Amino acid sequence: MSQEKLYYPDKELFKDAAINSMERYHALMQEAREDYEGFWARFAKEKIDWFKPFTKVLNEENAPFYKWFEDGELNVAYQCVDRHLATRKNKAAIIFEGDNGDQRVLTYRELAYEVNKTANLFKNRFGVKKGDRVVLYMPMIPEAAIAMLACAKIGAIHSVVFGGFSADALRDRIVDAQAKLVVTADGAFRKGKPYMLKPVVDKALEEGCECVEAVCIVERNGEDIRWVEGRDYAYYELLKEQSHRCECETMGAEDPLFLLYTSGSTGKPKGVQHSQAGYILWAQMTMEWVFDIKENDTFWCTADVGWITGHTYIVYGPLAAGATTVMFEGVPTYPDAGRCWRMVEEYQINQFYTAPTAIRMLHKLGADEPEKYDLSSLRILGTVGEPIDPAAWQWYHEKVGGGRCSVVDTYWQTETGGHMISPLPGATPVKPACATLPLPGIMAEVIEEDGTPTPVGEKGFMCITKPWPSMIRTIWGDPDRFVKSYFGDCKKDGKPVYFTGDGAMTDELGYITITGRTDDVINVSGHRLGTAEIESAIKKHPNVAAVAVVGKPHDIKGESIFAYVVLKEDNGVADEVETLKEINEVIKKEIGAIALCDDIAFVPDLPKTRSGKVMRRILRSLVKGEAITQDTSTLEDPGVVEKIAEILKCKG
Ligand code: PRX
Repeated sequence: MSQEKLYYPDKELFKDAAINSMERYHALMQEAREDYEGFWARFAKEKIDWFKPFTKVLNEENAPFYKWFEDGELNVAYQCVDRHLATRKNKAAIIFEGDNGDQRVLTYRELAYEVNKTANLFKNRFGVKKGDRVVLYMPMIPEAAIAMLACAKIGAIHSVVFGGFSADALRDRIVDAQAKLVVTADGAFRKGKPYMLKPVVDKALEEGCECVEAVCIVERNGEDIRWVEGRDYAYYELLKEQSHRCECETMGAEDPLFLLYTSGSTGKPKGVQHSQAGYILWAQMTMEWVFDIKENDTFWCTADVGWITGHTYIVYGPLAAGATTVMFEGVPTYPDAGRCWRMVEEYQINQFYTAPTAIRMLHKLGADEPEKYDLSSLRILGTVGEPIDPAAWQWYHEKVGGGRCSVVDTYWQTETGGHMISPLPGATPVKPACATLPLPGIMAEVIEEDGTPTPVGEKGFMCITKPWPSMIRTIWGDPDRFVKSYFGDCKKDGKPVYFTGDGAMTDELGYITITGRTDDVINVSGHRLGTAEIESAIKKHPNVAAVAVVGKPHDIKGESIFAYVVLKEDNGVADEVETLKEINEVIKKEIGAIALCDDIAFVPDLPKTRSGKVMRRILRSLVKGEAITQDTSTLEDPGVVEKIAEILKCKG
C-alpha cells in the first residue's frame, strides 16, 4: 500500500492556506489532544460574532446529549449575513444560474434585505415564532437560501425537504416536525422544461397536516397552480409590504437551528437536529481549512439544498465565511456534458465540489469536455457522499484539475454537520480515492466494538470517539432512538462513542479509507436510502408477500436497488418487468423517484434464520455473484440460497 503514489499539494498555490503543511496539521492535532476544550474555545471565540460570550465550553453531564458553548448567545443569520455588511456589502454573496442559463447575483446587502423582508413576513404575517418549525420544499433558487436564513434570523427551526421526495414522504416530515408554515414554489426548470412542486404540497396537505396554517409560494416557473383560499399566499405579493429591517432573535448556542431528515437502517426517517453555534462554527472552519476559501474566491457546490451538503456548503459555510457561493438550478448534463465546465470558466470558480456519481457521469458522457474550457481558476476539487473509485478520481484530477488542483475526498454525514475526514489541500499528500486523515480536532478512529484499534489493513468501525461541536444533538422527538442509533454499538474506555454506521480501514500512514455502510443503508447516486423504508413501500403492492432490497454495484450510481420479491400469488402469470413497473409506481408515491428499483427477482422465499431475521448479507453476496461464505446452516431453509442463486443465474 505504501508503494502507492502520493500526490503532493502545490506549495505555491497553497502557500497562504490556513493549514499549509503537515507540521501545522500535527501541531493543531497535538493542541486538540492536549487541551480539547481549549482548542475549541479558541476557535469559537475567534470565528463567531457572539452577542454574549460563552463561559462553558463542553458539557458532558448528560452524555451523549452533549452541549457546546451553552451559555453563549448569537444569531446564525447575523454570522452569515449582517456582520459582513461592514466590509463586504457590495460583494456577491450568491450567484445563481438557472437551468435555462438565466443569472441573478445577490450582494450581501441585497441578501440582507431579502432575508429581513422574508423574516418579517414569516413573523408578522404567518405568526412564526422562535422554536416554530417551517418546512421548506424548494427548488434550487436563491429564495431557498433566503428562507433558511430568514428562519435563522427569527429563531424558527427549518426543515428542508428535498424536492424529489413524494407527497407522502413530504407529509411524513411535515407531521413529524409539526410544521406551522410550508414554503414552496410553483415549480422550477429542469433540462429546459418546467416541473412542478406545488401540486405535491397540495397532495401532502390533503390529510393529517392540521399543524400547517399557511403555505407560502415563490413564483419561479409561472405555471398554473391551484390556490387554496385562506391557506396559500404568494411570496412576492406579501413581501412588498415588509420592511427590510429586522432585528435578530437572540439565540442560545444550543437552540436548534434546523432539522434534516435522513434515512436509518430501520423505521421511518430520522429528524437530525443541529445546533446554532457548534454547527456554524464548524461549517465556517471547514470552509477555511478544507476549501481554503479566500476573499476573492468563487465557490461552487453542486449539491441540492435538500441535503446536508447543500445546507453546509452552499448556504451556511460559504456565507459564514463571507464567500461568494454559486447556486445552480439545473443538472450537470444539460444542455450537454460541458455545462459545469462552461460555468467554471464563466464564473472563474476556484473550488468545485460535487459527488462521485456526477464525476462518473461526466467522465462517461464527455471525457474530453473539460479540455474545451479554461479551467485555470480551479484550485480545489472536492468530492462527497460516497466512495470515489480510482478511475473517476484520476480523470477528475487530471482532466478537470489539470493535475494542478488538490482533490479533497471529504467524508462526513448529515449527522456530523461538516467534514470529518479529508485531505487539507495545502498540506496532505493524497492517496487517490482515500479520505486520508481526520481534520484537526476530530477524533475519528477505526476501532473494534470494544474500542481497541482495528489492525492496519483490516475493516473496523468508523467512530468519532470524542464529541465535536457540529455533531447531531438528538433525533427530533425521539431521544431514545438517537442514543440507540449512534451510541449503542461501540465503546471506548467503557464509554459509548459515536458510530457512523460506516466501515473503514487504515493503512500504515494512518490514512483512512471508507469501505461503506455496515448497516442496511443503500447509497444510490450519493443519496442515502434505508432498506426498511423501501421495503415497506414495496410491501404496499397488492401481490407482494415479502421483500428484501439490497444495493447492487452500479457503474454510475455507485449502487442501484435490487429487490428480491416473494409473491403472494405466484401463479406463473406475474411478469417481472410488469411487476417492477408497478412496484416503482408504489415507490414513487411513497418515497419519490430517487428510490426506484433497477431490477427485481421473484424468489420462492427469503433466506431467514429460525428467528425470522432475513440474512441480508447472503442476498448482497448473491446479487454480486460472489461465492457464499456465510454459514447457511442456521437458516430455516438452507436450500433456499441455492434456489435463489439458480434464479439469478437464469436472469443473467
Ligand atoms: O456512507 C457514508 C457516505 O455517505 C454517508 C452519509 O450520507 P449523508 O448523511 O446523506 O451525507 C452525505 C453527504 C455528507 C456516510 O455514512 N459518504 C459520505 N462521504 C463519503 C462517504 N463514503 C465514502 N467517502 C466519502 N467521502
